[in-house]
Amino acid sequence: MASDLFDKFRFGQGSTNHRPSAPQSDSSESGSEGASAMPTGASGTGLNSGTVPPAGSVFDKSQLGQIFIPPSLLSLDNGNAPKMDEAMFKRFRDFIYEQCGISFTENKKYLLEGRIAKRLEAHNLTTFDEYFRLISTSAAAREELPSLFEVVTINETYFFRNPPQFEALEQVILPEILKAKQAQGNKKLRIWSAASSSGEEAYTMSMLILERIKPQFPGFTFEIVGSDINTAVLEKARSGVFKEYSVRNMPAHYLNKYFTRDGDKYVLTPEVRSQVKFMCVNLYDTPTMRTMTGFDVIFCCNVLIYFDTIAKQQVVADLYDALNKTGYLFIGYSESLHGVSKAFKLVHFPKTIAYKKE
Ligand SMILES: C[S@@+](CC[C@H](N)C(=O)[O-])C[C@H]1O[C@@H](n2cnc3c(N)ncnc32)[C@H](O)[C@@H]1O
Repeated sequence: MASDLFDKFRFGQGSTNHRPSAPQSDSSESGSEGASAMPTGASGTGLNSGTVPPAGSVFDKSQLGQIFIPPSLLSLDNGNAPKMDEAMFKRFRDFIYEQCGISFTENKKYLLEGRIAKRLEAHNLTTFDEYFRLISTSAAAREELPSLFEVVTINETYFFRNPPQFEALEQVILPEILKAKQAQGNKKLRIWSAASSSGEEAYTMSMLILERIKPQFPGFTFEIVGSDINTAVLEKARSGVFKEYSVRNMPAHYLNKYFTRDGDKYVLTPEVRSQVKFMCVNLYDTPTMRTMTGFDVIFCCNVLIYFDTIAKQQVVADLYDALNKTGYLFIGYSESLHGVSKAFKLVHFPKTIAYKKE
């Protein structure tokens, strides 16, 4: 029975990847995601509309910790790679922060160096200075920025990533919101998977809605928006084709019912895909964020860890505005709104929490 299969995840039981719930903290995620950005101040050249802290003004010590660096990133420097000096690192670091809120600390210089070196190679450039001029010249920058975002973001994700969140969504939050909407004669529900990466989170919610919610609330229209700054992962999301890695946490029932196999690939069925659309949204770009409105639930998971406190405050304030009254915000398991926002009401669910707009 479908419910029994989902019950495998009830309160995190039976999932090899699920980490037991703990008080939310600001520490970096374990795993490959922790390899990327760490908070730092950044001096501004005014390229982003967001608030830019003065150099060195923001340093969230709570995010220091053991960082796991994926071997694939460690092996980027083969000895022939161009070197990035301290001044150049700071220019790139500040530029990236201003553009998308991602912070790289000094000890991540080698990481940034390796990643940006890929873009030098793509353009047949030999120095970081040449590449910096390319990305900071407005016309050329427009074309190059998506590729820069592609190399500086970490896109780790998988289906049913944090089961207690989906449990709370399906068992409590959606029924509560849908009943209220029903009473008002409003038959549309909208969910936003902000920083969706390749779409696994958005599609997980689409499957849950098909499996558990639609039968109870016939006549409703469900729209799920997945967004990310990385256009390459969005293309992957739109394709609806996934590898073993993405489905490793998936209950067998969902895998059998909502996917077909194509060799070693898992292809999502059209009904799951039809409820989801993807778009490019930079969470650190307030003018774009202001166009994102009318959501009943927002998942913004495992991305705030890459921002410093000031960037988090800006992004979370914009997410608050994007939510309907009585809507809910979920953030990542290792993330917290402590010191970021007091606007939400904290709501506890088994093994997870959510933030409610009242
Ligand atoms: C680790 S993934 C999280 C994916 C998914 N939410 C999850 O929890 O499994 C973080 C995603 O945030 C995206 N990201 C980073 N900075 C962003 C920004 N300023 N605006 C939008 N997306 C951003 C990255 O491209 C990446 O795909």
